[in-house]
Amino acid sequence: AAERDLAGRHVVVSAGGTREPLDPVRYLGNRSSGMQGYALARTAVARGARVTLVAGNTELPDPAGVDVIRIGTARQLREAVLKAAAEADAVVMAAAVADFRPAVYTTGKIKKIDGQEPEPVTLVRNPDILAELSAERARPGQVVVGFAAETDDVLANGRAKLARKGCDLLVVNEVGEHKAFGSAGNEAVILAADGAETPVPYGPKEDLADTVWDLVAPRLADTER
Ligand code: C5P
Repeated sequence: AAERDLAGRHVVVSAGGTREPLDPVRYLGNRSSGMQGYALARTAVARGARVTLVAGNTELPDPAGVDVIRIGTARQLREAVLKAAAEADAVVMAAAVADFRPAVYTTGKIKKIDGQEPEPVTLVRNPDILAELSAERARPGQVVVGFAAETDDVLANGRAKLARKGCDLLVVNEVGEHKAFGSAGNEAVILAADGAETPVPYGPKEDLADTVWDLVAPRLADTER
């Protein structure tokens, strides 16, 4: 996998979690560290790609040789990814996108009032960026990859999600103690729309990233580079 099989290609990777503000000081967030997406960006650069990394909240430094766009909310992530995807050969959605956001953003800090219960928070759905990218390919032959964290019936749920989202590859993680979120290692099964199943044993996130590119590279449209 060390060859420069992505030379001349432009890939877009999303990473990290989104933050959905409730008021100027509070947000709904998630535990994504961004490490898997950053590993995808680094390995793609090593294989010769031009890489745009759309990064949500992470503590990680910008990887060398990568065009990094920082975003906060799912809607900002959508704007940035769709724009970058317009000229990309492949898009990998490794970001943990909040499925819901507070329906109302309160412009002043929400205050506690003595003797009064707080107002309930109403949530609304965020756009599903992966489904949108898959349905409306910005370029013919563009390869779209998603991630899915599942706790049970991992393969059956993964297959159903792959079909529902319409992407080419879905990296399915079983969520567990030492796995996925915040850990240096990962273990997954990569499901392909053509039926192929590629198990990736527990190991560094770079190894999983390289296996993703091993599967993306032969699926790329044989177009002018
Ligand atoms: O539906 P679920 O959140 O399990 O799907 C996970 C995959 O879909 C990830 O690739 C994630 O980046 C993407 N996603 C998205 N937009 C959302 C929710 C998830 O693109 N609103």
